[in-house]
Amino acid sequence: IKKIGVLTSGGDAPGMNAAIRAVVRACAYYQTECVGFYRGFQGVIEGDFVALNARSVRNILPYGGTILQSARSREFMTKEGRAKAAAKIKEAEVDAVILIGGDGTFRGGLALSEEHGIPCIGVPGTIDNDISGTNFTIGYDTALNTVVDAIDKIRDTASSHNRLFFVEVMGRDAGFIALNSGIGAGAEEILIPEEDLGLERLLNSLERSRRSGKTSSIVVVSEGDKIGKNVFELAEYVKENLPYYDAKVTVLGHIQRGGKPTCFDRVLASRLCVKAVELLMDGNRDVMVGLVNNDIVYTSISKALKTEHTVNKDLLRISDILST
Ligand code: F6P
Repeated sequence: IKKIGVLTSGGDAPGMNAAIRAVVRACAYYQTECVGFYRGFQGVIEGDFVALNARSVRNILPYGGTILQSARSREFMTKEGRAKAAAKIKEAEVDAVILIGGDGTFRGGLALSEEHGIPCIGVPGTIDNDISGTNFTIGYDTALNTVVDAIDKIRDTASSHNRLFFVEVMGRDAGFIALNSGIGAGAEEILIPEEDLGLERLLNSLERSRRSGKTSSIVVVSEGDKIGKNVFELAEYVKENLPYYDAKVTVLGHIQRGGKPTCFDRVLASRLCVKAVELLMDGNRDVMVGLVNNDIVYTSISKALKTEHTVNKDLLRISDILST
């Protein structure tokens, strides 16, 4: 392996810059050339890349976003798009690509490898934490802390006004962010896609809270929740059925994707990406690096894509006990 390409694709996540830095510095350490493709697979298709050396990544470690930018390339989802991308990779004499992103990114990498023989290594970078083969994805810890910080603030105003707040958090179809931030911020109820507890139970629980003397409450709702109502409809429904509640909605949205990465995410990104480069140097391909029980491990991308990374539903029980 003489030249490694690196890209960030899909939704950005805090710590992606730390990951790019680690790839570039590890390449420099092992005396391998490195190039960065802009805007994920779209930049590959367009042949839009830059040579990166150890100094190109100075001072990017503490910043959110990604200096290489990101995209969800529609063109790359077509066979023709991937053929164009492969041609550009070969033209740039790049021998292998390190892909920092989520499952869509890994699916793209696998297709590139299977259709055009380009070796890929996946590095899990998404705030959703919904990737199998790793306990944590880069950006998840930072997003959790952002959400907890926001809910702490919402709680201040909720308790001043005796209000009930529904706080919608990201996570696409996964409840990791909702579940863990909900416990971290002491939410009364947590609604996640993995477990539809039903509207009746929600009403009963809120009614119980009121009777037990609570004057304000927070319900964390995952954006992919399957209760059958969106967060605004949910608030209306509760107001209709429990009229004494003054219910408000806050959608946290993309603030969850930005900000300085936590130390945890910086260390995670650094460890995963040094390993990604070393795996390529040792002749591995089409694997994803991950953190399992605090060890850096790797699994085949195809296996990681087939297996589901499930939330710990015991956390719902913990939340139930603690919101008494
Ligand atoms: O995958 C990360 C994520 O932030 C999800 O939590 C969310 O559903 C999605 O991306 C939003 O995507 P976009 O930024 O393209 O609207």
